[in-house]
Amino acid sequence: MGLSSTIGNFFCQIRLLLFIALCLMIVGWANFYMRDSPHYAPKYSSNFWKCPSPERKVEDKTIPSTVKQITNVESEVKVCPVLSPYLKGNIPLSFDPSLNLEKVKNKYPKVNNGRYQPEGCKAQQRVAILIPHRNREKHLLYLLDNLHPFLQRQQIDYGIYVIHQAGDGKFNRAKLLNVGYLEALKEEPWDCFILHDVDLVPENDFNTYLCDTEPKHLVVGRNVTGYKLWYKGYFGGVTAMSKNQFAKVNGYSNNYWGWGGEDDDLRARVSYGKMTVVRPPPEIARYTMVFHTRDSGNEVNHNRMKLLKDVSKVWKTDGLNSCIYKLLSVEHEPLYINITVDLGRPQY
Ligand SMILES: *[C@@H]1O[C@H](CO)[C@@H](O)[C@H](O)[C@H]1NC(C)=O
Ligand SMILES: *[C@@H]1O[C@H](CO)[C@@H](O)[C@H](O)[C@H]1NC(C)=O
Repeated sequence: MGLSSTIGNFFCQIRLLLFIALCLMIVGWANFYMRDSPHYAPKYSSNFWKCPSPERKVEDKTIPSTVKQITNVESEVKVCPVLSPYLKGNIPLSFDPSLNLEKVKNKYPKVNNGRYQPEGCKAQQRVAILIPHRNREKHLLYLLDNLHPFLQRQQIDYGIYVIHQAGDGKFNRAKLLNVGYLEALKEEPWDCFILHDVDLVPENDFNTYLCDTEPKHLVVGRNVTGYKLWYKGYFGGVTAMSKNQFAKVNGYSNNYWGWGGEDDDLRARVSYGKMTVVRPPPEIARYTMVFHTRDSGNEVNHNRMKLLKDVSKVWKTDGLNSCIYKLLSVEHEPLYINITVDLGRPQY
């Protein structure tokens, strides 16, 4: 072993000398390439170099240090700024009646399985957009067409979930949002949830889809109300709550079937959870509401005033912790994740 390795070393030195001689010859012939000879050499023969020599050991050592360097570079990727450099302010919205899913899909090739991550920086938060849905395919298309570029300009790491209520029973927006929250968290550890109506399109990209230290209501004005806050306690339309804020209020009530009241209920829960509501300035918290008539199955809920009186008594037992539903399917479309659910029937 000792002898053979000495001989091996000896021949190796010879090979090394031969190589140097070869290199010197090449110098004369092609001076130009000589500068790169250390990189060039292995190309002649990969085994030619393999000596148990000190050089070889040094080479081995460089491998882990290179790996370490790469890891360091990765952990040094900058966190994206709160206000992205790509923001434009008020943006012209597009509501092209000839739009179809194929066209929208081709416009945003960087979205995969409803997900997108900014390039070149690490996003501040991981944000799930939850959109309750039924029979609003056109509105959904308009929203997707405007929301994807909006969120990408904001450098948000996001996923868009459409929570689709199966059947033709009364619509229950609040319970759909509870389902969206619970199901989205089974896929990814989202930090922030945007509870988003399908018919509201943001007009100004300084209205950032990130969560704040308090629950954030993003809709101050809509074109249908002359861009004025609808009423003082309005908390509907589009709302940003962190994972913990939403858990703290036990999510929404599951008992609002039909239109109205569930957002006032959530606002009451926010107070009982000892939190306040924040809003961006009115100049930026602006939305366009796409026109529609009231859907069948979403008639005004006449029970809502009665329910609202009882929030303080029931909020801890009616919500995320009592949300019973039947998950029918989860489909990963290119531009969104479609969660289809059977919500059951009203309890009263
Ligand atoms: C709001 O904007 C939408 C989309 O452009 C339009 O259909 C609707 O008529 C507008 N409503 C008002 C009251 O301006
Ligand atoms: C979601 O999936 C359900 C069940 O496959 C389907 O009926 C519905 O049309 C889908 N909705 C959307 C918006 O893709």
